[in-house]
Amino acid sequence: MTQADAALSLAMWSGTDRPAAAAFPYEQVVLALLATGKHRADPGVVEALRSARARLTDVRGPQRQRARLARWLDIALDKSDGCYDYQSYLGLGVLPVFDLVHPPATAAAALRHHDRVLALLLSDLCRFEVSAAARQTHVLPRLRPGIDRVRKRCRFALAAARPGLGRLGLADQIYAEDPITAASQLVYVMDLLTNTDDHLILRLTMLPVDTYHDEYLFLRVLQCFELLFSLLVVDVQDVISSLFAGRARLASSRLDAATGVLQEAQALWPLIATMQPAAFAHFRQNTEGASAIQSRAYKLLESLCARPAEDRLSSVAYLSVPDVRAKIVAGQASLDEAFRATRDRFGAASVAELHQAMERFAVTILRWRRSHLGIATRMLGTDESGTGNTSGLPYLATEKDRQVFRTSP
Ligand code: HEM
Repeated sequence: MTQADAALSLAMWSGTDRPAAAAFPYEQVVLALLATGKHRADPGVVEALRSARARLTDVRGPQRQRARLARWLDIALDKSDGCYDYQSYLGLGVLPVFDLVHPPATAAAALRHHDRVLALLLSDLCRFEVSAAARQTHVLPRLRPGIDRVRKRCRFALAAARPGLGRLGLADQIYAEDPITAASQLVYVMDLLTNTDDHLILRLTMLPVDTYHDEYLFLRVLQCFELLFSLLVVDVQDVISSLFAGRARLASSRLDAATGVLQEAQALWPLIATMQPAAFAHFRQNTEGASAIQSRAYKLLESLCARPAEDRLSSVAYLSVPDVRAKIVAGQASLDEAFRATRDRFGAASVAELHQAMERFAVTILRWRRSHLGIATRMLGTDESGTGNTSGLPYLATEKDRQVFRTSP
């Protein structure tokens, strides 16, 4: 029924003289895709989505809505188009991570955006966990976790959201001792703050490949990290600009702020560790071709810290992100170089402060890599391989100690 409903709604929308972007039947299509998983999308729905895409040039409505519809149709059709990858798996084209070309004007605005979107993503995860535990949803029914695992998951999701909620002035509204009740409080609080556009974005960015419960967690946590990486890119870009503008103190404090948010994000690891390895092993069979090695934000961040060594730049690590690689080859400035180029202009105290801030940032990045290797080992078990054309665990083990900055002043 769900599949037929979606195909019919799409056919009606496409059959309109000038279809409106705002009238696109997102809800029905998402429900149909959730029912099968994107990997086994119903051929009738796929065909109807293709016909809808063919009407894009006739679509009316604000440019923002039309552009989003176009991007989302490519995301929904990625598997059948043969261009499924990490960006489309996570729905990055419609997820409100930072626009790196037009970043927020101030550090405070950037942090606020990060905190709000993080709270939205984690509250949506809590909503799913709470409603599945109460048997109020049929979405992703396979391998439902037991109640103890749900309780743990909610507790870790709340812990990851809490620093940002504190800055947003919302932390005291989530006070229940029982994690499941507290998770419901988070959902309630965020519902009061969200608008229809936020809800739509949450809907559009949850397109699992399969129907295992834990894929919801996996996707949301990956999205939280992408949001983090994009914030850190904005931060490090600003640190570099501050140095060239002769403002060393500002650069140090901005870098320390970035380190702080990166430290807070460590709380996402215990959360993803509640994923059942058996569920991961199942849905992973259909994520071939999508690996976080294709994360542009992660590689941008890495290369903004220091220009990658030639062996790394010519390896699959950067060949998987050709546009980032092209920027580096074209001479993208890094913090490492900016520090060396400008340090003679600053006093000894400012240089020492900056150097210490760089060290703290590097230590936290190395910790991120260790935690990542830990979770990958736990989830992959004896299967060492990755989905990104690397040796998998051996690749991560080698890369985890690579220097973040090359400078040792
Ligand atoms: C939970 C299970 C996870 C497993 C089993 C896993 C496994 C792997 C493996 C094997 C690689 C090597 C590339 C490849 O062949 O795919 C990789 C790369 C990567 N993963 Fe994960 N990962 C997991 C979770 C995450 C999460 C939650 C993030 C957060 C965004 C993440 C971010 C990355 C990044 C950025 C890379 C590229 C690292 C580089 O190129 O140096 N991974 N992962």
